[in-house]
Amino acid sequence: MSIYPDGIPAHGGQLIDRLATPEEKQEYLQQAETLPRVQLDERAFSDLVLIAIGGFSPLTGFMEQKDYESVVSDMHLANGLPWTIPITLSVSKDVADPLQEGSWIRLDDPSGRFVGILELTQKYQYNKTHEVVNVYRTDEDKHPGVKVIYDQGDVNLAGPIWLLQRDPHPLFPKYQIDPRASRALFQEKGWNTIVGFQTRNPVHRAHEYIQKCALETVDGLFLHPLVGATKSDDIPADVRMRCYEIILEHYYPQERVILAINPSAMRYAGPREAIFHALLRKNYGCTHFIVGRDHAGVGDYYGTYDAQKLFDEFDPDALGITPMKFEHAFYCKLTGGMATAKTSPSAPEQRIHLSGTKVRAMLRDGKLPPPEFSRPEVAAELARAMQIEH
Ligand code: ADX
Repeated sequence: MSIYPDGIPAHGGQLIDRLATPEEKQEYLQQAETLPRVQLDERAFSDLVLIAIGGFSPLTGFMEQKDYESVVSDMHLANGLPWTIPITLSVSKDVADPLQEGSWIRLDDPSGRFVGILELTQKYQYNKTHEVVNVYRTDEDKHPGVKVIYDQGDVNLAGPIWLLQRDPHPLFPKYQIDPRASRALFQEKGWNTIVGFQTRNPVHRAHEYIQKCALETVDGLFLHPLVGATKSDDIPADVRMRCYEIILEHYYPQERVILAINPSAMRYAGPREAIFHALLRKNYGCTHFIVGRDHAGVGDYYGTYDAQKLFDEFDPDALGITPMKFEHAFYCKLTGGMATAKTSPSAPEQRIHLSGTKVRAMLRDGKLPPPEFSRPEVAAELARAMQIEH
């Protein structure tokens, strides 16, 4: 019997809903032509959606300075709740200057469509170097997450938001399962313990191994690939989703797995993003979250287990979701299967290490990942998508 008969509470206790009612939407639409406009980039648009659907509970809008500074310096919101990534709407000074605090701003998506309202409560300048050094642990613009911060505007617009309507995802409508729906699904299935899995790479055998190790001890697996903005050399989301469909069909117990998209943008902030990823999955109703090697890392900015270690700095009750930590998994020639140093005594030369970075590099060189790396059906799909002969 679960201690949470209605599912795990959202972060902060209440699942946020900032979807305009039909009446509110009508009211906003009537004013569409008269309101000042701000155009969102892909990241800000996905943040707007995630706030609205409750994925970023307890946030109800883009962060005001008090929360922003507390998150950057202290990894907590001003009210003391853990939160590790700033959620901000940054614009240039030219855009910000004419905007009045206290007014409504019309938010347009990257294609110029009116999608939301910001009740502008505050605009403030912020220190980019301070932000990146704290959040990304580096100020190098080679880091893709840092580069995004350097390239964005110098003024943050803050305040509560409303999303006019929740549109089906253009590519993956059947996998768009928002926090309310995922929670209802978990209840319907009678799952008390659910492990969430974040990924931005094509599924490989180390992913499968750690997912299945976790699934041995919980009721269900919530596979939650990120489909928001990623850096340009990551494999496109549609290819990754097809790989998941294929591997689920052949190698997973269908009734114990739910595949759903995570609409958020990747930050590549390593340890801090791991905490953020866990809180997001808590809002979707997960009780556990997988953190493997170099979670959300890029290049060699973070130590292999830094993300896992950061969880130990937080009060577990305040986080409210349990990390499931996995060591670097490899294909082991000695035991003839996947393993980690915790489970196999093999010598280093008997271990085939794999990673998303390596898979991407092989595909770029026109090579297919071997069976120790990827299931053949997945490799074939990657080959097809990347137009590699096999
Ligand atoms: S991430 O940026 O979304 O973290 P990726 O999709 O590669 O990248 O990883 C998804 C999850 O699997 C993360 O928790 C990561 O730590 C874990 N992971 C990836 N490869 C391995 C591996 N070889 N061994 C253990 N964990 C791994």
